Amino acid sequence: MSEAAKNSAETANFFEFRNVCKAFDDRPVLKDVSFTVKRGETCVIMGRSGVGKSVSLKHIMGFLQADSGQILVDGVDVTHFSEAQFEQVRRKVTMVFQSGALFDSLTVRDNIAFPLDGQPGLTYDDLEAYVAKIANMLEVDHVLDKLPSELSTGMKRAVAIGRALAQNPEAILFDEPTTMVDPIMAGHAGDLILRLKKAFHKTSIVVTHDTHLAKKLADVVIFLQEGEVTFFGPWAGFESSNDPFLKNFRMQDELIPALDVTL
Ligand SMILES: Nc1ncnc2c1ncn2[C@@H]1O[C@H](COP(=O)(O)OP(=O)(O)O)[C@@H](O)[C@H]1O
Ligand SMILES: [Mg+2]
Repeated sequence: MSEAAKNSAETANFFEFRNVCKAFDDRPVLKDVSFTVKRGETCVIMGRSGVGKSVSLKHIMGFLQADSGQILVDGVDVTHFSEAQFEQVRRKVTMVFQSGALFDSLTVRDNIAFPLDGQPGLTYDDLEAYVAKIANMLEVDHVLDKLPSELSTGMKRAVAIGRALAQNPEAILFDEPTTMVDPIMAGHAGDLILRLKKAFHKTSIVVTHDTHLAKKLADVVIFLQEGEVTFFGPWAGFESSNDPFLKNFRMQDELIPALDVTL
């Protein structure tokens, strides 16, 4: 067994940040960020806009490199990986972007099938059956022949999740899956992710400021404040914390959907 495979078989943590620091033009954005996400666990990263949530995910994917500290994925230190090595990481870990990032000229079916295209041993029928299964689970089976431009934001998100799943990754990162959709669609997207969690038990990190979504999904919560982890622990601890900043954050967010519904 290779060293990497041995580490991977032994480690209970799928993701680990060890004292990660990152600055842009001397402006610190991540300050000594440390946390772990266990294999099969769903971790929710919360915090106000601009605190470094997306930046954290981009370090895992190799789109950004830490100034100091270490990042481990599946037991392997990827901090100084090359672009070619990150391509391997991106086979194990996929990211569902906030924008959805679908291919505009491909139908929903072809968007979902994209990661499967050209896989050895996969027949056309296998591919159709696989896409149908994923589309059914995400409730987009009635729009398979449509183009992304014909879909609502919520549907586009579901298709983007379908494409990420088709790659059969070991872990999925979701960046703000319920932002910019109405409260009903947000609830729906949350339910989809919850269903995936129960069906596949994949290690996941969900970035959100939506406390309703977090409550539904989180095994463990990371709260970022100005680039620092100010809470790291199970959801119950986050919900019952008396820290004034956390209390205020929870209260404000709980009010927003309630107001929307009454409008
Ligand atoms: N590539 C970049 N270059 C310079 N500044 C960046 C870059 N990416 C993010 N930032 C800055 O880092 C901070 C954290 O960003 P981000 O992680 O996207 O916030 P959020 O928590 O809302 O996801 C923001 O102030 C943002 O402007
Ligand atoms: Mg962000």
